[in-house]
Amino acid sequence: MKVLLKNIKSLVNVEDQARLLVKGKAMDDVKCIDNAWLLVDGERIADFGSMDTMDDNATIQSCDELLEMDMTGHHVFPSFCDSHTHLVYAGSREVEYVDKIKGLSYEEIAKRGGGILNSAKLLHNTSEDELYEQSMRRIREIISQGTGAVEIKSGYGLNPEDELKMLRVIKRIKDTSPIEVVATFLGAHAVPAEYKGRQTEYVDMVINEMIPQVAAEELADYIDVFCDKGFFTVEDTDRILMAGMKYGMKPKIHANELAKSGGIQVGVKYAALSVDHIEYTEKEEMDVLMDSDTMPTVLPGAAFFLNMPFAPAREMIDYGLPVAFASDYNPGSSPTGNMKLMNSFACVNYRLTPDEALMATTINTAYAMGLSEDFGSIAKGKYANLFSCPDIPSRHFLPYAYGSDLIGMVMLKGEVLS
Ligand code: NIG
Ligand code: FE
Repeated sequence: MKVLLKNIKSLVNVEDQARLLVKGKAMDDVKCIDNAWLLVDGERIADFGSMDTMDDNATIQSCDELLEMDMTGHHVFPSFCDSHTHLVYAGSREVEYVDKIKGLSYEEIAKRGGGILNSAKLLHNTSEDELYEQSMRRIREIISQGTGAVEIKSGYGLNPEDELKMLRVIKRIKDTSPIEVVATFLGAHAVPAEYKGRQTEYVDMVINEMIPQVAAEELADYIDVFCDKGFFTVEDTDRILMAGMKYGMKPKIHANELAKSGGIQVGVKYAALSVDHIEYTEKEEMDVLMDSDTMPTVLPGAAFFLNMPFAPAREMIDYGLPVAFASDYNPGSSPTGNMKLMNSFACVNYRLTPDEALMATTINTAYAMGLSEDFGSIAKGKYANLFSCPDIPSRHFLPYAYGSDLIGMVMLKGEVLS
């Protein structure tokens, strides 16, 4: 079945030559076609152009079965790609939100057994089915907010059984939802209470028990470590990444959120697909990133919610680097997966232009999940993952109207969902 979207007011972020990522000045160059058509063949984009070419297009003319959709007044965007989430979790942590308002820091809450350990306790006491149901509510919500591909991490299990439970839920989401999902194993998210004071033994357990079991069930595409002050050291990270890579899990790591932890350097050393958070980034780290294929990824929701310093994203782009922006959807530091809001944060708090923010949340986040050959822009052969915004005056209205729900039609893999 082919679907023809016609009279599109503006088709946004089109590429004739699909790229894997976009860096430096090119991030501010979003190509659009005004008054456009787009042809979808099955799950993928077959072709597109301006309306004055539609009647001469041989593929359209030769279609026997064609569903036409009139998109008059709609901007059409490629779906957001969210390359960093922890959206499989049990319950919520608004109690800590109040503690934070009263002045406790993220590290202080973690030290008192709150934070990640609190989520681990809740997850342990929640059945796999219930965890799936809670997570699917979040998945349905982010789909309605324009996200078409998402990375989901484990890391609230912190023992082999519960880490596998989380990863099986992620696999079930992958098998039952139209959104594209990649899975990351994050056994080294925090040291569980029973290993307090024995961090090296916990790291040994991650390496010797968890990684082989996760690999045996083929549950993870990527491996992550929270490499930061008060969590895992560069040496721990070295050992864990090496062990994961033996089983084909490429690194994507949490780095430099709480301090200049050496996380960016160790990520680049192991050719990580991305290093994420990176609030504490200076020229030294930017030089290391310049010589790499690693995507620097900013998580503006976490910096906003925790009142943290902002990563120097503007400086990184001006330096010629690519930058991605993801949601970090999790119960502790960013309880939302709304990527439109991340665009607004990128513009207001990090001084990206709306076009740079769009690149940072589509093609560059697709790259940070290893998916940019198939997702992240409007290009022939890519999956037809898109959303429309009816009645907006220009594409820049999307991050500008930061509190408005502007998403109209959502299409994932050629299927219209709303
Ligand atoms: O990315 N920084 C580490 N992990 C998460 C927070 C997880 C939590 O607090 O539950 C993050 O912000
Ligand atoms: Fe995170």
